Amino acid sequence: MPWHPVYGGAPWGVPCAGVTAAQWRASKLGVMTAFPPVPGPPSAQNIELIEALREDFIEAGFTNDGVAELLGAEAVAALDREQVVPGQLRVQSELSQQMPSAEADSTGGPAAEAETLSQSQRCAVLTALWLVAVPVTYHQVQKALPRTGVEGLRQLGLAVLGPEAVWPACDLRPYLVETRAGSRDLWVTSDLSSHQVTGALPKDHVLGVGQASLTLAGITHRRPVQTALDIGTGCGIQLLHLLDHAEHVTGTDLSPRALDFARFNLLLNAPALELDPRNLEDRVELLEGSLLEPVAGRTFDLVVSNPPFVITPRQAGETESDRYTYRDGGREGDALMQELIAGLPAVLNPSGTAQMLGNWESSADEAWDARPRSWVSQAGLSAWFIQRDEQTPAEYAETWLRDASEERSIQDYRRRYGQYIADFASRGVQQIGFGLIWLQKPAEQQEDTTPWLRFEQLTGEIQQPLGPVIGQTVQRALAAHTDEAGVLQKALHTPETITEERYQRFGAEHPEVIIARQGTGLRRSRPISSAAAGFLAAADGEFTAAQLITAVCSLTETEEDTLTQEVLDLYIEGYVEGYVEQ
Ligand SMILES: C[S@@+](CC[C@H](N)C(=O)[O-])C[C@H]1O[C@@H](n2cnc3c(N)ncnc32)[C@H](O)[C@@H]1O
Repeated sequence: MPWHPVYGGAPWGVPCAGVTAAQWRASKLGVMTAFPPVPGPPSAQNIELIEALREDFIEAGFTNDGVAELLGAEAVAALDREQVVPGQLRVQSELSQQMPSAEADSTGGPAAEAETLSQSQRCAVLTALWLVAVPVTYHQVQKALPRTGVEGLRQLGLAVLGPEAVWPACDLRPYLVETRAGSRDLWVTSDLSSHQVTGALPKDHVLGVGQASLTLAGITHRRPVQTALDIGTGCGIQLLHLLDHAEHVTGTDLSPRALDFARFNLLLNAPALELDPRNLEDRVELLEGSLLEPVAGRTFDLVVSNPPFVITPRQAGETESDRYTYRDGGREGDALMQELIAGLPAVLNPSGTAQMLGNWESSADEAWDARPRSWVSQAGLSAWFIQRDEQTPAEYAETWLRDASEERSIQDYRRRYGQYIADFASRGVQQIGFGLIWLQKPAEQQEDTTPWLRFEQLTGEIQQPLGPVIGQTVQRALAAHTDEAGVLQKALHTPETITEERYQRFGAEHPEVIIARQGTGLRRSRPISSAAAGFLAAADGEFTAAQLITAVCSLTETEEDTLTQEVLDLYIEGYVEGYVEQ
C-alpha cells in the first residue's frame, strides 16, 4: 500500500460565483461544456470576521469529535478513503429532521427567523457543505453560522452563492492536534478535492491534509527549537504543528495561492497556536519562492518538507502552469530531492536537523539506496533513510495519474501513462522508492567526524507518531557512534513490548531462528543470535551492558566483540532501554 495520498472520488461538481441557474442546471444534466473556473483562495483581510467564524464553529460543535459523532464510524472511515456517500446519507438524514420548511426558507419570514437548529444540525449543515459535498440552503447556513452569515462566508471566499443553494469554495475541515499542552481543535482550508470537482484536478491545486502530510507531521521529532522552516508549506499544515515547539516558523512555497491558504489557516487557528492575528509576523513568516531561494543566507534549527517530489515526465515547451504544483517540482527524475538535500547544509544551524519525505529511483543493477547515499555523502550530512515502499514504473504511473483524477479522461490517461513508462526507461529506472528521511548537519566541534548513516527498508505497519522514536533512535545512534564505552556502562533492561519468537523443526534440539519483535514504534523484527537472546532475557536493569555481555559470552562461548556490536545495534534500535542512566 502506498503511504502517499491517492484520491478517488465521485464526480461531484461545484458551481462558482457568476454561474447562472440555467448554466448550473445544465451542468447537473451533464450538458455543460466548459466547467467554471476554480474559486480563489480564502481572504485573510477581515480578522474580525475570521474570529466570528471560529466562534460559530465552536458553538456548532464543528470539531473533529463533533463530526465523528455526527457521521459515525463507518462514514468517517469512508471519508478517509475519499468516499462521501455514507456521509451524505447521514447528514441528509440529520438535516431532514425538524428543519425549516422550504417555504419558510425561501421567504426568510418570521417563521424562518424564529427557527433554531440543534447543535448537531448546525454541525450537519457545515459537514454537508464542506466535507461531503451536499448543497445547503441560505437559510441553513444563516442558522448554522449566525455571526458569520452567508454574506460573511462569501466575503471570506469560503462559499459560492448559487441561485438556490450555497456551495463550498474550498475544502474546510476540523483537525485535531496533540500539542504539549493537550489536544487542540483546529480547522484547515485547502482546495476542493477530487470528489468535489469534475474532471482532473486543476494544476494549481492546493493540497489539503493528506496521508503524506500526516506521515510527515507524525515522524517529526518535536524538540523545542528557536527556528523552524517548512519548505513547500502548501496549506500550512506542518506550520500548525511546528508552532507548538518552535519560537518562530517560516513557510515557503512557489505557489502564492498556497500561501494565501496557509495565512488564512494560521489566522483561523490563531488562539490555539498562540498567535496574535494582528501581528502574525511575530512568530510566522510566509515567503514565496522556489525551494531554498527565499531563505538564502539564513539558517534554521529544524527544516521539514513534504516536497513536490513526484517524478513526472517532462514535456517539450512545458511551463510552470502545465505542472501540478502540489506534487511536481518540474525537475527530471528525482533531481529535486538531490537539489534540496544538496542545499540543506547552507540553511541548517550546526546540529540542526531536517525531516522530509521523498522518492528515489534505482536501476536494475543498483541498490535502492545508491542514489540517496550519494546525495548525503556529497552534502556531508548524517542521514537515516527508511524506505517504506517500492513501485515499478507502471505502478508509479497508475498511482500518480489516479492521484489527480487524470483517469477521468481516457485519452489523456493513456498518453500520460505511456510518457511515464518512456521517461523511466530513458534513465534505465526499474524501481522507485518512497520513504522517510532524517538528516543532520554536524555540530561545530564535530565537523571532522564521519557522518552517521543508516539506510533501511521497513515496509510493515508502523505506529505513529514516530517522532519520539526517531528522536530517541538518532540520539542513541549518535552516542554509540562517538562514545561506545559510555553506552556499554549503562544498565539496560528489555521493555515488555519486546517479544521473542523461536523457530525450529520438529524434534530439533535448538531453535534455528530467533526473532526479536517490537510491539510499538517502528515495529521492527530482527533475527538475533542465541547469545543476544540470552542478553535480552537477562537485561533487567541490574547490571551494566558490559557486565552482562561478559557473563553471557562466558556461558555461550561467544566472542565479546561480536555480542558487543549486536547489543549496540539492539540499544540503538530500542530493543533495550537505558533503565538507570549512569
Ligand atoms: C506535497 S505538497 C506539501 C504541502 C504540505 N506541506 C503538506 O505537508 O501536506 C508540496 C508543496 O510544495 C509546493 N512547491 C511546488 N514546487 C515548489 C518549489 N519549487 N519550491 C517550493 N515549493 C514548491 C507546492 O505548491 C505544494 O504546496
